[in-house]
Amino acid sequence: MKAWKSLSLALAFLGSSSLMAQSLNVLHVKEDISTIGFKSALWEKAKMGSVEAYPQTTIEMNDATLMKENANNKAKKIGVKVVQSGEYVALLLQWSDKTKNVQQGLTSNVYGDGFAVQFSTVSDKLPYIGMGSDGRAVIVHLQKATGKTYEPNNGGNVYHQVGAGNQNAFSKELEQYKNEVAKQGSSDYQRVFIAEGFRSTTQIRDNSEPAVMEMKHENGVWSGLLVRKLKSEHLDLTKDSFPVAFAIWDGGKKNRDGSKLLTPWVGVGAKTLVALDELKGGDVANGEKVMMENCSACHQYKGVKSAPNYMAPELSNIGGYANASYLLESIVEPSAVVVPGYNTTAHPNFQWYTVEKGVRTSTMPSFSHLDEKSLKDVVVYLKTLKVGVEK
Ligand code: HEC
Repeated sequence: MKAWKSLSLALAFLGSSSLMAQSLNVLHVKEDISTIGFKSALWEKAKMGSVEAYPQTTIEMNDATLMKENANNKAKKIGVKVVQSGEYVALLLQWSDKTKNVQQGLTSNVYGDGFAVQFSTVSDKLPYIGMGSDGRAVIVHLQKATGKTYEPNNGGNVYHQVGAGNQNAFSKELEQYKNEVAKQGSSDYQRVFIAEGFRSTTQIRDNSEPAVMEMKHENGVWSGLLVRKLKSEHLDLTKDSFPVAFAIWDGGKKNRDGSKLLTPWVGVGAKTLVALDELKGGDVANGEKVMMENCSACHQYKGVKSAPNYMAPELSNIGGYANASYLLESIVEPSAVVVPGYNTTAHPNFQWYTVEKGVRTSTMPSFSHLDEKSLKDVVVYLKTLKVGVEK
C-alpha cells in the first residue's frame, strides 16, 4: 500500500465516521422552532460552543487599502448554539465586532458586516471550505447587514433588485419607491447559493431552500440567526451529525468576497467525532524542513516568502481554516480539489490549474511519493500555520 493511503486510512479512523475536528452540541426540543427569534427562551437552555474563524489569506487582493487594514488580523471566536426540533434546525452565532458597518445600497463601496453558514451536500469527502468543489457542492446561506432593500417580487424570482443607493429614478418615482421600501422593504440582504467551486456559484431563487436569517448588533457583539429545514431539495441534515462551516465579514475593514474570517468544517451533534486536528504525534520541526525543501518554491507562509505573490495559495492561516484530511488530500492528490478564486487574467504567468473539457487539473505536483512520516509531519506542521485568536 502507498504510504499516503495508510495515512489517510489512519486519518479516517481517527475521525471515525466523520473527518471533523470540533463539534457542536445540539439541544433537541419539542417546541416549534420554525419561527424562533433572538428572544426565545430556548437559547438559554442551549449550550454555547465555540469555533475559531481565521483570516482567509489564500490570495493577495488587488485592493491595497484592504490588504493594509487586514494585515494584522487575528482569528475571532464565534459562539454557536444549535437547537433542533422536528423538521427544523436553528443556529445562533455570536461574535465581537466593535463597529457596526451597514452596506448602503448594493453597488456602493461601503461594505457591510455579514455572516454565512455553509453546509456540505456530501458526507464522505468534505468540499473545499471556500465555496465547495467539483462534485462536492455546498449550500451557503449568506446574510449581510444592509440598509433597507425592496425586492419587487417578494423575494421570489427577481431579475433586478433595487436599493436606496442604486436607485436612479426621477423624484416622483423615487418617492413612490421610498414609500414602498418603508412598507415592504426588509433590512436584509439574504441569499442562498449552491456552489461547486467559486465559478459555479448559483443563487437559489426558487424557494427550494427556504430559510430565515437575521442579524443584530448590541454592545459590540453581532448575533446572527439561521433557521432552516433539515431536509430540502439539495440538502439532507437528518443524520446523527452533519458538517457545518461559518464565515464572517467585517465591513469596516473592507471585507468582502474572499476577504473574510473562515472556520474549518465542524461537526454538529456528532457523538463519534474525534479531535482529528489534534493529530497525535508528528514532528513539527521535521514537517517545517520537508516544506522548506519541497513547497517553499511555490507557496508563501509564515515568514517564508521566497515564492512570488500569486504563484500558489498563501498558507499562513491554512491550519486555522483547513481540516487535516483536506491538507493530506491537497498534498497527495492536488487535483481532487482545485482551489478556486484565482484570477488568470490578472496573473497569466502563474497558472494554478489547466482546464480541459471542463476538468481542472492542478499545476501542483503530487507528493504521494513522500513517506508516511514526512506526510504526517507536513500535515502537523501545516496545522500550526495560523495567527493567534483575538482576546
Ligand atoms: C509547483 C508549485 C507548487 C509546489 C512545489 C507545491 N504546491 Fe501546493 N499548490 C500549488 C498550487 C498552484 C495550488 C492551487 C491549486 C490546487 O488547489 O491544487 C496549491 C495548493 C495547495 C494547497 C491547498 C491550499 C488551499 O488554500 O486550500 C495546499 C495545502 C498545498 N498546496 C500544500 C503544498 C505542500 C505541503 C507542498 C509541498 C509538499 C506544496 N503544496 C508544493 C502549487 C505548488
